[in-house]
Amino acid sequence: MKGVLLHGGLGTRLRPLTHTGPKQLIRVAGKPVSQWVLEDMRDAGVRDIAVILGTLSPLRVVEYYGDGGWLGVRITYIYQGYPYGLAHAVYLARSFVRDEPFIVCLGDNIIASGLKEYVKAFEESDADAMILLARVPDPRRFGVAVFDEKGRLVGLVEKPKKPPSNYALVGVYMFRDGTVFEEIEKLRPSWRGELEITDALQALIRRGLKISYAVVKGWWKDTGTPSDILDANRLLLDERVKEQRIEGRVEEGARVEGRVVVEEDAVVEKGAVVRGPAYICRGARIGEGAYIGPYTSIGVGAVLRRVEIENSVVMDGARLEDAGRIVDSLIGSEAVVTTARGLLPHGHRLVIGERGRVMLHL
Ligand code: G1P
Repeated sequence: MKGVLLHGGLGTRLRPLTHTGPKQLIRVAGKPVSQWVLEDMRDAGVRDIAVILGTLSPLRVVEYYGDGGWLGVRITYIYQGYPYGLAHAVYLARSFVRDEPFIVCLGDNIIASGLKEYVKAFEESDADAMILLARVPDPRRFGVAVFDEKGRLVGLVEKPKKPPSNYALVGVYMFRDGTVFEEIEKLRPSWRGELEITDALQALIRRGLKISYAVVKGWWKDTGTPSDILDANRLLLDERVKEQRIEGRVEEGARVEGRVVVEEDAVVEKGAVVRGPAYICRGARIGEGAYIGPYTSIGVGAVLRRVEIENSVVMDGARLEDAGRIVDSLIGSEAVVTTARGLLPHGHRLVIGERGRVMLHL
């Protein structure tokens, strides 16, 4: 089975973090969101993968994944250009897929249980397509399944004002062959101006094809907003970081407690405390007086000294020094948080990007 990983989108709700790259490259629990997805595809036996790139620094994605060999997959890159919708992105993969079975995954959706069992179920079934669903309290911002009185899937609607059920479409779609491309060609843009994959699936249902579904086990996270990123980080640290793993250096006089990963070339210096679940990426330096509390991930090469931080994601190359206590925060790459103590005039000194958010504890 071939794979199509959607890596585009504008990432508006995650600005300013997405000014420098696509949202799918934000690292949670040590890996970019899309790497978690890609590894789940690989572990389900999908090795030949097209990555569909958007307009936000697409070269960063190419630089990061390369040919995919280091992850045990073969990657083909396809440029989407302007995002005309998920169905448009999928359509661009038609010559890559040809007439083979394929799975489409959104690069910003993570499923606790991975993909293996669903891919297996599809491969063993005679369905023409298969979707995954998750039960959610308020499905209005998703694609939603319509069932008949016998519980059979009879339709799919994108972001309905009055949801016909509580079952949302998770960003994973499997197809037996290239029939869906014929339906995408006939699509018209939705009210949000996009070609919707949900509408293409609806067309397959109308055509009488057999679309099966599975309800995902455990959590599912669509990482579209800052609080989603923190949630995903927490969920992944719990689900996928099962034990302590120290590859870097923990100096004498430093304390590392519980489920903590310290990658190679990372240092936890004397006088620092790391309490898991936590993830310290390679090259990071946790210096004296730093307390890294539960559910925190520290990016590649980040430096922290005399700061307490909990339930947060610190991205690559950020520096936090003499920064008090930080909770529930997302710190962008190369960002600096430090004290203004001793500087006159008194006051907070901020350099904040578009849509940045600062909550001061006064
Ligand atoms: C997309 C799909 C929607 C699906 C959702 C899952 O929505 O259109 O059907 O439920 O992904 O994350 P979007 O993220 O484009 O709003």
